Amino acid sequence: MKILQTIDELKTFRATLKGPVGLVPTMGALHNGHLSLIQQSCNENEHTIVSIFVNPTQFLAGEDFEKYPKKTEADIKICELCGVEALFMPDVQTMYTSLEPSILAPSSKSYILEGLARPGHFDGVLQVVLKLFHLSKPHRAYFGKKDAQQLYLIQNMVQTLFLDVQIIPCEIVREDDGLALSSRNVYLSNEQRSEALLISKSLKTATRAIIAGTRDIATIKHEMLLTLEPLHVEYVEILRRDFDTIETIDLGNTIILVCAKVGTTRLIDNLWI
Ligand code: PAJ
Repeated sequence: MKILQTIDELKTFRATLKGPVGLVPTMGALHNGHLSLIQQSCNENEHTIVSIFVNPTQFLAGEDFEKYPKKTEADIKICELCGVEALFMPDVQTMYTSLEPSILAPSSKSYILEGLARPGHFDGVLQVVLKLFHLSKPHRAYFGKKDAQQLYLIQNMVQTLFLDVQIIPCEIVREDDGLALSSRNVYLSNEQRSEALLISKSLKTATRAIIAGTRDIATIKHEMLLTLEPLHVEYVEILRRDFDTIETIDLGNTIILVCAKVGTTRLIDNLWI
């Protein structure tokens, strides 16, 4: 596996590739969620490029940019074992200059939910993803449904900027007890980890209600909030998959999103129904 750190190295490597290329953008500290994206890319493409870059422009002041978990050696091993052909690990100076054009995510969809708590976050995500697309020119790029709003905004960018890349949404990977995998789970103490289970439990509450025939969104939200009671809930939303509001569940085109704080750690999860 090649480890590429500069733009020239990546461009030169990319120029040697003939068949389909899959890109898996990450911020490292790889877990089984990332692994499933990487494996899917390796299965579906002749070549897979993984990027590991903790992108400063998507962190707000006071967030965990400085202390974001790093596991470089383990990450390299995981990528090697998966059959990744190149790992792109640039530093901040390689990716950014002091004169950057702004990329603004559409505000009606990027200043709600995650973007309400983290204004500007998605502008930074789109900025770095666009750069990664330009550099690695992938045929397919893999993103997790875990970050549903991010996935939607990236799909929207690809569509509206006429980018020639196919976005592949990948299923959420969970621990056996239901907790969605996240690099930030390492911040949780044992006690907080058990509390965090209420998040996926609330999605199960919603599933049960929907299976039982409930379609009214206010009712489902209320039941979820009862399950989430002990946590500091930031939002529970039930929206159409394009993040527009709806009154009743539209099976096949609905997404249920939860964000709660456990200690100081914000955790998100969702369910596509
Ligand atoms: P990161 O949080 O490292 O996630 C990289 C990719 O892994 C994202 O597409 C994310 O949705 C996916 N992922 C994370 N946890 C997952 C899980 N439990 N199941 C399935 N997929 C999961 O998301 C980012 O990095 C950054 O914003 C990035 C897109 C790399 C831009 O900087």
